Amino acid sequence: MNRKDIINDPDHGNKAEAFEAFDDIPTNPNLNRTIGDVINRRYGRRDMLKGVLGVAATTALFGTSAMVAPKRAAASADASRYKFDELTWGNDTEHHIADGYNADVLLRWGDPITADAPEFDVMNQTAEAQLKQFGYNNDYVGFTALNDEGTRGLLCVNHEYTNEEVMFPGLGRQDRAGFEGMTEELVNIEMAAHGGSVVEIAQGEDGKWSLVRDSQYNRRITPLNTEMTIDGPAAGHARMQTNADPEGMTVIGTVNNCAGGMTPWGTYLMAEENFHGYFWTDKVDAEGKPDVTGMEEAMAKRNGRYGVPGMWYAWGKYHDRWNIDKEPNEPNRWGWIVEVDPRNPDAAPIKHTALGRFRHEGAETTVSKDGHLVVYSGDDNRFDYQYKYVSGGTINDDTAVFGSSLFSDGTLYVARFDEDGTVEWMPLVHGEGPLTAENGFNDQGDVMIDTRMAADLLGATPMDRPEDAQPGPNGTAYLMLTNNTRRQPDQVNAANPRPESSFGHIIEIKEDGEDHAATKGTWSILVKCGDPTIEEVGAQWNPETSESGWFGSPDNCAIDADGRLWISTDQGSSWGKTGKSDGLYGLETAGDLRGHSKLFFRCPVGGELCGPYFHDSGETLFLAVQHPGTDGTKDFRGFERDSTFEDPATRWPDFDPAMPPRPSVVVVTKEGGGKIAI
Ligand code: FEO
Ligand code: CA
Ligand code: CA
Repeated sequence: MNRKDIINDPDHGNKAEAFEAFDDIPTNPNLNRTIGDVINRRYGRRDMLKGVLGVAATTALFGTSAMVAPKRAAASADASRYKFDELTWGNDTEHHIADGYNADVLLRWGDPITADAPEFDVMNQTAEAQLKQFGYNNDYVGFTALNDEGTRGLLCVNHEYTNEEVMFPGLGRQDRAGFEGMTEELVNIEMAAHGGSVVEIAQGEDGKWSLVRDSQYNRRITPLNTEMTIDGPAAGHARMQTNADPEGMTVIGTVNNCAGGMTPWGTYLMAEENFHGYFWTDKVDAEGKPDVTGMEEAMAKRNGRYGVPGMWYAWGKYHDRWNIDKEPNEPNRWGWIVEVDPRNPDAAPIKHTALGRFRHEGAETTVSKDGHLVVYSGDDNRFDYQYKYVSGGTINDDTAVFGSSLFSDGTLYVARFDEDGTVEWMPLVHGEGPLTAENGFNDQGDVMIDTRMAADLLGATPMDRPEDAQPGPNGTAYLMLTNNTRRQPDQVNAANPRPESSFGHIIEIKEDGEDHAATKGTWSILVKCGDPTIEEVGAQWNPETSESGWFGSPDNCAIDADGRLWISTDQGSSWGKTGKSDGLYGLETAGDLRGHSKLFFRCPVGGELCGPYFHDSGETLFLAVQHPGTDGTKDFRGFERDSTFEDPATRWPDFDPAMPPRPSVVVVTKEGGGKIAI
């Protein structure tokens, strides 16, 4: 499969988006170009220049009239609940935080995390070493305290995927068709760098956090060697059985763990997102595309709906389970929510099939008014859906445990957003409505394995890539719709109102009765992202939002200890569709400043911002800078380049000429202590 085929593949994800960005600076300037992209490009050049020269120099070049004057009414902006001096936007090789705050690197890819782990040796990597070192591309970050003060605890971190071109010397960007140079040893290192990490951290008298390297809790969870069990309606199902697991009850590992969640009882949920990208076939047609000739029709249809096989990685060349020719049922065992007990390193993680199978972005939890567990999870694909799971039982001493029945007995719902501003949560239950054998659903296991197809039949609303979904106070939930450049004008709906949306939007849900378990609610658009000064973009912000405050492509989000919403962005390319780096923003949800956004932190070039996660105290914020220095086919200075191990766009955070960029977790605290942004 060549790159053009990949970018034309309707299925996508971060990695695919990176390829899209790669090919979006083409010799043919109209390739996949959208109105939004044209606007971005025009605007972006000025921004790139300004990012390098700085505001003062740009003002000298263009005169003040060229600057976009923020419409600011001091009294109103002063009423912001986010008490910090806004950071100025930009895009350069370092990370930046608002004045008065520390942003310290806590854990970097390759850092030894167990007492017996070898020191990181980037020129002599091995899978064995990587299994004891911090993984690649940190995404979700969660924390569960080990003492009453919360000064000791377990940090739970997802490692979503790998970027070979900046991980390994001498490779360059890998061609999906050939994977030149991807040996079995390199593939195994990649597998060992995926998954998750659980590490104990402790806060010193000086307020700084550090790794407790000899902690008994420290471990890696990987697709190379971590055995997991399966529960829920699809456990043991005939379509879950493989040669290695004839019972359909166990699986080795987890992949593409994007966002996630912590349960109210302190276990760690890892979402399996772009699992399709890891599957391989030896059967390709003359154009290099997967050839499904001879595949049973129903299986070809199901695989097609999920984008299997994606062939993003060479793993299937060396491991039969990633090759669908050899293990046709294996893809059914991925795309689930995985629960990990961080307090018991010996406990096998569990894939909970009652929460459905799709490209789960995350799994944020809350508790309904009468004590049910509620989990919000988006399916991050263009035109896919928003889901919510509600447990059958309620939380009590018996159920607030790892492997709880609350995760195996419950109802998965998919959202339909109606024009009148109501949202209906429709249950995915076998035998109800069209979910019958006539339509290919023989049991609830089929409904869960083929969640997307079940949701299609129920008439769910096709969204602009549902990323993180965060339940908030009083029955609210915030949905990050990151972008969808392929939505045509005749495909818009009230909840996804912009065609060719490059910048995405955020929806606020208010569940009926302020109860997260409600099956009905109302919805509204909190912001439409992008530059508010360019009319064609169609952005919607509170008018007090400054030039630094607006953003594009919301991805992750968090609610802090004071109920305030924070948004992190992923624009999918180092040059940034907006010309700005990705970052963290405080976004007002209520009052006169509803829709007002302020920039608090920004990433080094090429990095997207993940996490964010607030410590219960509100005094520590964990952030994850993912893939710094990558996707650099067009760098922030406007020069075309391929970021590689040898020549990355930045060497953050070490700035050592012998070290490539390293995805890292960053800890934010207030200088002198105290709550963040209060
Ligand atoms: Fe892994 Fe949807 O971001
Ligand atoms: Ca994400
Ligand atoms: Ca992302």
